[in-house]
Amino acid sequence: MTKKIAVLPGDGIGSEIIEQAVRVLRTVAPSLEINEAPVGGTAYDLHGHPLPPSTLKLAQESNAILFGAVGDWKYDKLPREHRPEQAILGLRKALGLFANLRPAVLYPELANASSLKPEIVSGLDILILRELTGDIYFGTPRGIRTASDGPYAGSKEGFDTMRYAEPEIRRIAHIGFQSAQKRQGKLCSVDKANVLETSQLWRDIVIDVSKEYPDVALSHMYVDNAAMQLVRAPREFDVIVTGNLFGDILSDEAAMLTGSIGMLPSASLNASGQGLYEPSHGSAPDIAGKGIANPLATILSAAMMLRYSLDSASLADKIEQAVQKVLQQGYRTADIYEPGTTKVGTAAMGDAVLKA
Ligand code: NAI
Ligand code: MG
Repeated sequence: MTKKIAVLPGDGIGSEIIEQAVRVLRTVAPSLEINEAPVGGTAYDLHGHPLPPSTLKLAQESNAILFGAVGDWKYDKLPREHRPEQAILGLRKALGLFANLRPAVLYPELANASSLKPEIVSGLDILILRELTGDIYFGTPRGIRTASDGPYAGSKEGFDTMRYAEPEIRRIAHIGFQSAQKRQGKLCSVDKANVLETSQLWRDIVIDVSKEYPDVALSHMYVDNAAMQLVRAPREFDVIVTGNLFGDILSDEAAMLTGSIGMLPSASLNASGQGLYEPSHGSAPDIAGKGIANPLATILSAAMMLRYSLDSASLADKIEQAVQKVLQQGYRTADIYEPGTTKVGTAAMGDAVLKA
Protein backbone atom coordinates (compact mmCIF):
# COMPACT_ATOMS: atom_id res chain seq x y z
CA MET A 1 0.00 0.00 0.00
CA THR A 2 1.27 3.47 -0.86
CA LYS A 3 2.16 5.43 2.25
CA LYS A 4 0.74 8.94 2.48
CA ILE A 5 2.31 11.93 4.11
CA ALA A 6 0.94 15.39 4.81
CA VAL A 7 3.36 18.26 4.36
CA LEU A 8 2.49 21.39 6.35
CA PRO A 9 5.09 24.12 5.73
CA GLY A 10 3.54 26.83 7.95
CA ASP A 11 5.06 30.27 8.46
CA GLY A 12 8.39 32.11 8.34
CA ILE A 13 11.21 29.85 7.16
CA GLY A 14 8.77 26.90 7.15
CA SER A 15 8.31 26.75 3.39
CA GLU A 16 12.04 27.18 2.66
CA ILE A 17 13.22 24.34 4.92
CA ILE A 18 10.30 22.03 4.01
CA GLU A 19 11.09 22.38 0.31
CA GLN A 20 14.54 20.88 0.85
CA ALA A 21 13.23 18.02 3.00
CA VAL A 22 10.59 17.19 0.38
CA ARG A 23 13.27 17.06 -2.33
CA VAL A 24 15.18 14.54 -0.21
CA LEU A 25 12.04 12.46 0.43
CA ARG A 26 11.10 12.40 -3.27
CA THR A 27 14.58 11.14 -4.06
CA VAL A 28 14.91 8.37 -1.46
CA ALA A 29 11.23 7.32 -1.36
CA PRO A 30 9.70 8.10 -4.79
CA SER A 31 6.57 6.02 -4.13
CA LEU A 32 5.46 8.20 -1.17
CA GLU A 33 2.23 10.09 -1.78
CA ILE A 34 2.89 13.67 -0.68
CA ASN A 35 0.07 16.18 -0.11
CA GLU A 36 0.60 19.75 1.04
CA ALA A 37 -1.75 21.94 3.09
CA PRO A 38 -1.60 25.33 4.83
CA VAL A 39 -1.17 25.62 8.61
CA GLY A 40 -0.51 28.34 11.18
CA GLY A 41 -0.69 32.02 10.31
CA THR A 42 -0.59 31.18 6.61
CA ALA A 43 -3.76 29.12 7.04
CA TYR A 44 -5.36 31.85 9.14
CA ASP A 45 -4.79 34.34 6.32
CA LEU A 46 -6.31 31.96 3.75
CA HIS A 47 -9.14 30.29 5.72
CA GLY A 48 -9.55 32.25 8.97
CA HIS A 49 -8.24 29.36 11.10
CA PRO A 50 -4.69 28.17 11.97
CA LEU A 51 -5.76 24.53 11.59
CA PRO A 52 -8.52 24.48 8.94
CA PRO A 53 -10.73 21.35 8.87
CA SER A 54 -9.30 20.38 5.45
CA THR A 55 -5.74 20.46 6.82
CA LEU A 56 -6.73 18.44 9.89
CA LYS A 57 -8.52 15.89 7.70
CA LEU A 58 -5.47 15.48 5.48
CA ALA A 59 -3.27 14.99 8.57
CA GLN A 60 -5.63 12.39 10.01
CA GLU A 61 -5.70 10.43 6.76
CA SER A 62 -1.90 10.36 6.43
CA ASN A 63 0.65 7.95 7.88
CA ALA A 64 2.80 10.86 8.95
CA ILE A 65 2.99 14.63 8.95
CA LEU A 66 6.03 16.68 8.06
CA PHE A 67 5.60 20.05 9.75
CA GLY A 68 7.71 23.17 9.18
CA ALA A 69 7.07 25.80 11.84
CA VAL A 70 4.34 28.25 12.76
CA GLY A 71 4.22 31.75 14.22
CA ASP A 72 5.00 35.33 13.38
CA TRP A 73 4.92 38.57 15.35
CA LYS A 74 2.13 39.86 13.10
CA TYR A 75 -0.31 37.33 14.65
CA ASP A 76 0.57 38.21 18.27
CA LYS A 77 -2.55 40.36 18.69
CA LEU A 78 -5.01 37.65 17.62
CA PRO A 79 -7.21 35.95 20.22
CA ARG A 80 -5.64 32.74 21.54
CA GLU A 81 -7.80 30.36 19.46
CA HIS A 82 -6.63 31.98 16.23
CA ARG A 83 -2.93 32.11 17.09
CA PRO A 84 -0.67 30.03 14.83
CA GLU A 85 0.60 27.91 17.78
CA GLN A 86 -2.93 26.54 18.22
CA ALA A 87 -2.37 24.48 15.08
CA ILE A 88 0.28 22.35 16.70
CA LEU A 89 -1.72 21.90 19.91
CA GLY A 90 -4.78 20.97 17.83
CA LEU A 91 -2.83 18.37 15.84
CA ARG A 92 -1.34 16.84 19.00
CA LYS A 93 -4.76 16.57 20.54
CA ALA A 94 -6.66 15.32 17.48
CA LEU A 95 -4.07 12.64 16.71
CA GLY A 96 -3.30 11.67 20.32
CA LEU A 97 0.43 12.34 19.88
CA PHE A 98 1.63 11.43 23.38
CA ALA A 99 5.30 10.57 22.82
CA ASN A 100 7.71 13.36 21.97
CA LEU A 101 11.15 12.19 20.83
CA ARG A 102 13.92 14.76 20.78
CA PRO A 103 17.35 13.52 19.89
CA ALA A 104 20.28 15.74 20.84
CA VAL A 105 23.22 14.85 18.62
CA LEU A 106 26.44 16.81 18.45
CA TYR A 107 28.33 16.01 15.28
CA PRO A 108 32.09 16.03 15.87
CA GLU A 109 32.44 18.67 13.11
CA LEU A 110 30.22 21.07 15.13
CA ALA A 111 31.76 20.49 18.56
CA ASN A 112 32.74 24.16 18.82
CA ALA A 113 29.08 25.23 18.61
CA SER A 114 28.36 23.84 22.08
CA SER A 115 28.71 26.06 25.11
CA LEU A 116 30.41 23.14 26.84
CA LYS A 117 33.99 22.03 26.31
CA PRO A 118 34.46 19.67 23.34
CA GLU A 119 35.92 16.97 25.64
CA ILE A 120 32.59 16.85 27.50
CA VAL A 121 30.19 16.92 24.54
CA SER A 122 31.92 15.90 21.32
CA GLY A 123 30.06 12.92 19.86
CA LEU A 124 27.06 13.42 22.17
CA ASP A 125 24.07 11.29 21.09
CA ILE A 126 21.12 11.18 23.48
CA LEU A 127 17.38 10.87 23.07
CA ILE A 128 14.93 12.67 25.34
CA LEU A 129 11.52 11.06 25.39
CA ARG A 130 8.89 13.42 26.82
CA GLU A 131 5.30 12.45 27.60
CA LEU A 132 3.22 15.06 25.81
CA THR A 133 -0.46 14.82 26.70
CA GLY A 134 -0.64 14.49 30.51
CA ASP A 135 0.92 15.96 33.66
CA ILE A 136 0.43 19.34 35.30
CA TYR A 137 -0.13 21.03 31.90
CA PHE A 138 -3.53 19.41 31.51
CA GLY A 139 -4.52 18.23 35.02
CA THR A 140 -7.67 19.55 36.63
CA PRO A 141 -8.73 21.23 38.85
CA ARG A 142 -6.73 24.30 37.99
CA GLY A 143 -7.31 28.00 38.19
CA ILE A 144 -6.94 31.17 40.16
CA ARG A 145 -9.09 31.55 43.28
CA THR A 146 -9.19 33.11 46.72
CA ALA A 147 -7.31 30.94 49.24
CA SER A 148 -9.73 29.66 51.88
CA ASP A 149 -7.22 28.48 54.49
CA GLY A 150 -3.58 28.62 55.54
CA PRO A 151 -1.38 31.66 56.12
CA TYR A 152 -2.56 33.29 52.88
CA ALA A 153 -6.32 32.84 53.39
CA GLY A 154 -8.16 35.63 51.61
CA SER A 155 -5.35 36.17 49.08
CA LYS A 156 -5.47 35.19 45.46
CA GLU A 157 -3.77 31.84 44.71
CA GLY A 158 -3.02 29.97 41.53
CA PHE A 159 -3.23 26.17 41.50
CA ASP A 160 -2.63 23.32 39.05
CA THR A 161 -2.91 19.57 39.36
CA MET A 162 -0.12 17.18 38.49
CA ARG A 163 -1.61 13.82 37.53
CA TYR A 164 -0.69 10.74 35.57
CA ALA A 165 -2.83 7.64 35.11
CA GLU A 166 -1.19 4.22 35.10
CA PRO A 167 -1.93 3.51 31.39
CA GLU A 168 -0.37 6.85 30.38
CA ILE A 169 2.84 5.99 32.25
CA ARG A 170 2.86 2.44 30.90
CA ARG A 171 2.61 3.42 27.24
CA ILE A 172 5.38 6.03 27.38
CA ALA A 173 7.57 3.61 29.38
CA HIS A 174 7.17 0.99 26.63
CA ILE A 175 8.31 3.51 24.02
CA GLY A 176 11.28 4.35 26.25
CA PHE A 177 12.40 0.73 26.54
CA GLN A 178 11.83 0.06 22.84
CA SER A 179 13.83 3.16 21.86
CA ALA A 180 16.66 2.07 24.16
CA GLN A 181 16.66 -1.38 22.53
CA LYS A 182 17.30 0.27 19.16
CA ARG A 183 20.18 2.33 20.62
CA GLN A 184 22.70 1.59 23.39
CA GLY A 185 20.24 -0.28 25.62
CA LYS A 186 20.24 2.25 28.49
CA LEU A 187 17.11 3.96 29.81
CA CYS A 188 17.12 6.61 32.52
CA SER A 189 13.71 7.47 33.98
CA VAL A 190 13.60 10.98 35.43
CA ASP A 191 11.13 11.94 38.15
CA LYS A 192 10.89 13.66 41.52
CA ALA A 193 9.80 10.63 43.53
CA ASN A 194 11.28 11.99 46.75
CA VAL A 195 8.58 14.67 46.96
CA LEU A 196 5.79 13.94 44.43
CA GLU A 197 3.15 11.20 44.64
CA THR A 198 2.72 11.30 40.86
CA SER A 199 6.43 10.56 40.52
CA GLN A 200 6.23 7.65 42.97
CA LEU A 201 3.57 6.02 40.80
CA TRP A 202 5.64 6.85 37.70
CA ARG A 203 8.66 5.07 39.18
CA ASP A 204 6.67 2.00 40.30
CA ILE A 205 5.12 1.56 36.85
CA VAL A 206 8.40 2.06 34.98
CA ILE A 207 9.97 -0.65 37.18
CA ASP A 208 7.02 -2.94 36.43
CA VAL A 209 7.30 -2.38 32.65
CA SER A 210 11.07 -3.00 32.84
CA LYS A 211 10.39 -6.70 33.54
CA GLU A 212 9.41 -7.04 29.88
CA TYR A 213 12.76 -5.61 28.75
CA PRO A 214 15.53 -7.54 30.55
CA ASP A 215 17.99 -6.45 27.85
CA VAL A 216 17.64 -2.73 28.76
CA ALA A 217 19.58 -1.29 31.71
CA LEU A 218 17.14 0.91 33.66
CA SER A 219 18.21 3.66 36.04
CA HIS A 220 16.26 6.37 37.88
CA MET A 221 17.25 9.95 38.55
CA TYR A 222 15.63 12.91 40.27
CA VAL A 223 15.02 15.77 37.85
CA ASP A 224 17.26 18.25 39.66
CA ASN A 225 20.16 15.82 39.51
CA ALA A 226 19.38 15.06 35.84
CA ALA A 227 19.62 18.78 35.06
CA MET A 228 23.10 18.79 36.60
CA GLN A 229 24.30 15.56 35.00
CA LEU A 230 23.23 16.82 31.55
CA VAL A 231 25.88 19.53 31.76
CA ARG A 232 28.43 17.57 33.80
CA ALA A 233 28.58 14.31 31.84
CA PRO A 234 25.86 14.26 29.18
CA ARG A 235 27.38 11.35 27.26
CA GLU A 236 26.55 9.03 30.20
CA PHE A 237 22.92 9.11 28.98
CA ASP A 238 21.39 7.09 26.16
CA VAL A 239 17.58 7.47 26.41
CA ILE A 240 15.88 9.64 29.05
CA VAL A 241 12.14 9.09 29.61
CA THR A 242 10.20 11.63 31.63
CA GLY A 243 6.88 13.44 32.07
CA ASN A 244 5.60 16.49 30.26
CA LEU A 245 6.88 19.23 32.60
CA PHE A 246 10.34 17.80 33.33
CA GLY A 247 10.68 16.81 29.67
CA ASP A 248 9.89 20.31 28.46
CA ILE A 249 12.78 21.71 30.47
CA LEU A 250 15.32 18.90 30.02
CA SER A 251 14.78 18.68 26.26
CA ASP A 252 15.55 22.38 25.84
CA GLU A 253 18.61 21.97 28.06
CA ALA A 254 19.79 19.01 25.98
CA ALA A 255 19.18 20.96 22.77
CA MET A 256 21.48 23.73 23.97
CA LEU A 257 24.28 21.24 24.62
CA THR A 258 24.55 20.94 20.86
CA GLY A 259 24.42 24.71 20.40
CA SER A 260 22.82 24.47 16.97
CA ILE A 261 19.05 24.71 16.97
CA GLY A 262 19.09 24.41 13.15
CA MET A 263 20.29 20.79 13.45
CA LEU A 264 17.73 19.23 15.82
CA PRO A 265 14.78 17.16 14.59
CA SER A 266 11.83 15.91 16.65
CA ALA A 267 8.98 13.44 16.44
CA SER A 268 5.63 13.16 18.22
CA LEU A 269 3.98 9.73 17.98
CA ASN A 270 0.65 8.18 18.83
CA ALA A 271 -0.28 4.62 19.77
CA SER A 272 -0.71 3.50 16.17
CA GLY A 273 2.67 4.78 15.00
CA GLN A 274 1.30 7.82 13.23
CA GLY A 275 3.57 10.77 13.87
CA LEU A 276 4.23 14.45 13.43
CA TYR A 277 7.81 15.31 12.51
CA GLU A 278 9.23 18.81 12.80
CA PRO A 279 12.44 20.69 13.47
CA SER A 280 12.88 21.70 17.13
CA HIS A 281 13.26 25.33 16.15
CA GLY A 282 10.52 27.83 15.35
CA SER A 283 9.63 29.89 12.27
CA ALA A 284 12.64 32.23 12.63
CA PRO A 285 10.86 35.34 11.24
CA ASP A 286 14.16 37.26 11.56
CA ILE A 287 15.70 35.31 8.67
CA ALA A 288 12.58 34.28 6.72
CA GLY A 289 12.68 34.82 2.95
CA LYS A 290 16.45 35.25 2.85
CA GLY A 291 17.31 31.73 1.74
CA ILE A 292 19.81 31.26 4.56
CA ALA A 293 17.92 29.01 7.03
CA ASN A 294 19.47 25.68 7.91
CA PRO A 295 17.28 22.90 6.42
CA LEU A 296 19.12 20.04 8.18
CA ALA A 297 16.81 19.80 11.23
CA THR A 298 13.88 19.37 8.84
CA ILE A 299 15.73 16.89 6.63
CA LEU A 300 16.64 14.91 9.77
CA SER A 301 12.97 15.07 10.84
CA ALA A 302 12.08 13.47 7.50
CA ALA A 303 14.60 10.73 8.32
CA MET A 304 12.92 10.16 11.70
CA MET A 305 9.59 9.95 9.86
CA LEU A 306 10.90 7.15 7.66
CA ARG A 307 12.26 5.33 10.72
CA TYR A 308 9.32 5.65 13.11
CA SER A 309 6.17 5.95 10.97
CA LEU A 310 7.01 4.54 7.54
CA ASP A 311 8.95 1.41 8.47
CA SER A 312 11.97 2.42 6.38
CA ALA A 313 14.92 2.49 8.78
CA SER A 314 17.41 1.87 6.00
CA LEU A 315 16.26 4.99 4.11
CA ALA A 316 16.49 6.96 7.36
CA ASP A 317 20.07 5.74 7.78
CA LYS A 318 20.85 6.90 4.25
CA ILE A 319 19.63 10.43 4.94
CA GLU A 320 21.42 10.64 8.29
CA GLN A 321 24.66 9.45 6.68
CA ALA A 322 24.27 12.04 3.91
CA VAL A 323 23.90 14.81 6.52
CA GLN A 324 27.02 13.59 8.26
CA LYS A 325 28.85 13.57 4.96
CA VAL A 326 27.97 17.17 4.01
CA LEU A 327 29.26 18.32 7.39
CA GLN A 328 32.48 16.39 6.82
CA GLN A 329 32.73 18.01 3.40
CA GLY A 330 32.64 21.39 5.16
CA TYR A 331 29.26 22.74 4.04
CA ARG A 332 27.69 25.09 6.61
CA THR A 333 24.68 27.37 6.69
CA ALA A 334 25.20 30.72 8.43
CA ASP A 335 23.97 29.48 11.84
CA ILE A 336 26.74 26.85 12.07
CA TYR A 337 29.41 28.59 9.99
CA GLU A 338 33.01 28.73 11.19
CA PRO A 339 36.01 30.19 9.36
CA GLY A 340 37.59 27.57 7.13
CA THR A 341 34.27 25.99 6.14
CA THR A 342 32.09 26.63 3.07
CA LYS A 343 29.09 28.90 3.71
CA VAL A 344 25.97 27.86 1.76
CA GLY A 345 22.31 28.89 1.67
CA THR A 346 19.22 26.76 2.24
CA ALA A 347 18.89 25.41 -1.32
CA ALA A 348 22.61 24.74 -1.76
CA MET A 349 22.60 22.76 1.49
CA GLY A 350 19.69 20.73 0.09
CA ASP A 351 21.70 20.16 -3.12
CA ALA A 352 24.69 18.94 -1.09
CA VAL A 353 22.56 16.47 0.88
CA LEU A 354 20.97 15.15 -2.33
CA LYS A 355 24.37 14.69 -3.90
CA ALA A 356 25.72 12.93 -0.79
P1 NAI B 1 13.09 30.34 16.60
O1 NAI B 1 13.54 28.95 16.83
O2 NAI B 1 12.18 30.58 15.47
O3 NAI B 1 14.38 31.27 16.40
C1 NAI B 1 15.39 31.43 17.40
C2 NAI B 1 16.71 31.90 16.74
O4 NAI B 1 17.27 30.77 16.04
C3 NAI B 1 16.49 32.98 15.70
O5 NAI B 1 17.59 33.86 15.74
C4 NAI B 1 16.47 32.24 14.38
O6 NAI B 1 16.92 33.00 13.29
C5 NAI B 1 17.40 31.07 14.66
N1 NAI B 1 17.00 29.88 13.89
C6 NAI B 1 15.92 29.08 14.13
N2 NAI B 1 15.85 28.10 13.21
C7 NAI B 1 16.90 28.27 12.38
C8 NAI B 1 17.35 27.58 11.22
N3 NAI B 1 16.73 26.52 10.72
N4 NAI B 1 18.46 28.04 10.60
C9 NAI B 1 19.11 29.11 11.07
N5 NAI B 1 18.75 29.81 12.17
C10 NAI B 1 17.63 29.39 12.82
O7 NAI B 1 12.44 30.83 17.96
P2 NAI B 1 11.74 32.25 18.34
O8 NAI B 1 12.47 33.35 17.68
O9 NAI B 1 11.60 32.22 19.79
O10 NAI B 1 10.27 32.15 17.75
C11 NAI B 1 9.89 32.64 16.47
C12 NAI B 1 8.48 32.17 16.16
O11 NAI B 1 8.45 30.75 16.06
C13 NAI B 1 7.46 32.54 17.24
O12 NAI B 1 6.29 32.96 16.61
C14 NAI B 1 7.25 31.24 17.99
O13 NAI B 1 5.98 31.16 18.57
C15 NAI B 1 7.41 30.23 16.89
N6 NAI B 1 7.80 28.88 17.33
C16 NAI B 1 7.18 27.83 16.68
C17 NAI B 1 7.50 26.54 16.98
C18 NAI B 1 6.84 25.46 16.20
O14 NAI B 1 6.31 25.71 15.12
N7 NAI B 1 6.84 24.23 16.67
C19 NAI B 1 8.48 26.21 18.03
C20 NAI B 1 9.12 27.39 18.62
C21 NAI B 1 8.75 28.66 18.28
MG1 MG C 1 9.84 24.13 25.73
